[in-house]
Amino acid sequence: MYGIIATWRMALEGITEAEEMLKKGSDAKDSIEKAIQMVEDFEFYKSVGYGGLPNEEMEVELDAAFMDGDSLSIGCVGAIKDYANPVSIARMLSEEPVNNFLVGAGAEKYAHRHGFERKNMLTERAKIHYHNRVKETTDNKELKPYSGHDTVGMVCLDQEGHMTSATSTSGLFMKHAGRVGDSPISGSGFYVDSKVGGASATGLGEDVMKGCVSYEIVRLMKEGMHPQEACDKAVRDFDQELKERRGKAGDMSLIAMNNKGEWGVTTNIEGFSFAVATEKEKPTVYLVKFDENGKQYFEVASQEWMDNYMKTRTAPLVRK
Ligand code: GLY
Repeated sequence: MYGIIATWRMALEGITEAEEMLKKGSDAKDSIEKAIQMVEDFEFYKSVGYGGLPNEEMEVELDAAFMDGDSLSIGCVGAIKDYANPVSIARMLSEEPVNNFLVGAGAEKYAHRHGFERKNMLTERAKIHYHNRVKETTDNKELKPYSGHDTVGMVCLDQEGHMTSATSTSGLFMKHAGRVGDSPISGSGFYVDSKVGGASATGLGEDVMKGCVSYEIVRLMKEGMHPQEACDKAVRDFDQELKERRGKAGDMSLIAMNNKGEWGVTTNIEGFSFAVATEKEKPTVYLVKFDENGKQYFEVASQEWMDNYMKTRTAPLVRK
């Protein structure tokens, strides 16, 4: 059995390519790296890699992680600037004996030393988003500058039973310089153990980190839960906990897959989508919906939804 699951519709092209690779016997490391790179390279996805939205100083600072579920090796970068594929830097860091998590200038030095591609990640389109958001926030104090943070997070299983997890994000739009979210934090943004399965998160990093939610899902799967049961329990319990203790809970959407290729997804927001492909299921985008009793269910995205998604992502932007 092989499979790959990812947060958001934006992962579809990447997981489609990864599924082709997995089918031909590629390993979980190469397949997941390729899938994440494809999201990082597509300039119209505005919260990952090239085209990602900048921090409040109009600089694109990126976070990424890579985990090998066999050895439990982890590599992470935080607040790295001007490199095309943070996930590949994270992968190389996961192969180092120590110094596995580098941030800022240190991460950039490492990337330079190892010949990674330098690239100005700030696009004209992202600059327009920035200016428009600054204007909207100034005009209307109710608007939240931080809204909109769609991290790509994935879990992958290859035919040999090896598993990986990886993430990549530009983090919260208008974040402070140097802010690092959950995405490169082991157990929060991602976790994988090939003996069990893996999980990955998208949402408000500050809250995901409070609950180490990806690790919690893997722990529950280890106790015997199906990935869906584990996601439901971890996300619902922690959402409730945050509401009781803090009055509110930030956005949290988690995806998981076990080492049999079974998967699960739970979110506490409207409008979450995810993409999955396994030996048994062609690459598919699902939308997460809620019925009148608040119960979550999945719907395969219609062609109309898919067409509209790409149209809105690529529509010309005008500076206000
Ligand atoms: N989940 C992405 C972030 O908070 O940066």
